Amino acid sequence: MKRIAPLLLALGCATSTGPTESIEPDAPRPKVGAAWFKLRAEQLGVSMDAAKARDAAFDPSNAPDDFWNPETAINTGAVWNALCAECHGGQLDPRDAAKFPAPSPGWAKGTGQMFAEPRPLPAAYAKVFDGSDDPKKMPPWKDKLAREQIWALVHYVNQLSNTATARVYLEKK
Ligand code: HEC
Repeated sequence: MKRIAPLLLALGCATSTGPTESIEPDAPRPKVGAAWFKLRAEQLGVSMDAAKARDAAFDPSNAPDDFWNPETAINTGAVWNALCAECHGGQLDPRDAAKFPAPSPGWAKGTGQMFAEPRPLPAAYAKVFDGSDDPKKMPPWKDKLAREQIWALVHYVNQLSNTATARVYLEKK
């Protein structure tokens, strides 16, 4: 695996040490798959099947509204630490993600800072969804994460990349 990224941390927290270890032993665990849809079904007041169908119907060129709230934000931080930080760095206590602002309306159609470079956000979403053309680089996440979770991660990376004290560097080959 390719190593990416020294990185400087974060929102008043300690410096990140190892790969996938959480920096806080009592930090919330990531919810993926059924656990994620259970959370969203409860939040939306619908059945789990309805939450899944709703997610599957999202247009990949634009983010859904209202997916960012304290619980989904914290879960996004936990997912980042568990699945992404191994390559990209940037571990925070997941609870710090609740301090990030919610995305503004229409944000996903625009450009945002992705690590060290500005990127069209639909392209960043597509990269996380489908993975890199080169399978040795970025794995695809579409079978593991809900579409809303992928948008939440794009917002999370954008926030991390914009935070002066929490800069994430993506090493490119
Ligand atoms: C095995 C290492 C690895 C893991 C794990 C990984 N990535 Fe990546 N990621 C990469 C590499 C390498 C690239 C650059 C690939 C390319 O340009 O095709 C990349 C690219 C990206 C980009 C696009 C950046 C740009 O400039 O367009 C985003 C966004 C991203 N990753 C987010 C994530 C998220 C979110 C996760 C976790 C769900 C994740 N990555 C997990 C290695 C990884």
